[in-house]
Amino acid sequence: MRNYEISKEAQQVGVDYLLKCARSACENAFAPYSKCKVGVALCSAKTGKVYVGCNVENSSYGATICAERNAITTAVSAEGDIGIASLVVVNNTDRRFTPCGICLEFMVEFIKKDIKIYVYSRKDDDFEVFEYGHLLPQAFIL
Ligand code: THU
Repeated sequence: MRNYEISKEAQQVGVDYLLKCARSACENAFAPYSKCKVGVALCSAKTGKVYVGCNVENSSYGATICAERNAITTAVSAEGDIGIASLVVVNNTDRRFTPCGICLEFMVEFIKKDIKIYVYSRKDDDFEVFEYGHLLPQAFIL
């Protein structure tokens, strides 16, 4: 797992703003098969910039990319080796979904145990907060 500072810029990025960005990405989700649209916004610890991702499904279901990995690869493409300051996940259903196991493992390269993951259903007032280390306490890392 990583160790990194959360810059002043990143500390100023609020959850409400991340939620807005994640909702906007969620609208763009390509989910004709599951109909479950997911949007993610994350804040880069170094720059405070916000990167978003949505799920992109495929006829060959296993080729589907989750919103979380989409947001992370977008952030890395822009900044290189990022640290995540905070991350918001939303979806278009009445249930809250935490990131799947593959996405939690994917995050391990870019996140610390105490980083907060905010999980929302389609309703703004229905959310839960988890620390990354609680969702994947024994992450695999070389
Ligand atoms: N999905 C995500 O985008 N993130 C997750 O962490 C779990 C699942 C997407 C993949 C698929 O397009 C849809 O949700 C249903 O599994």
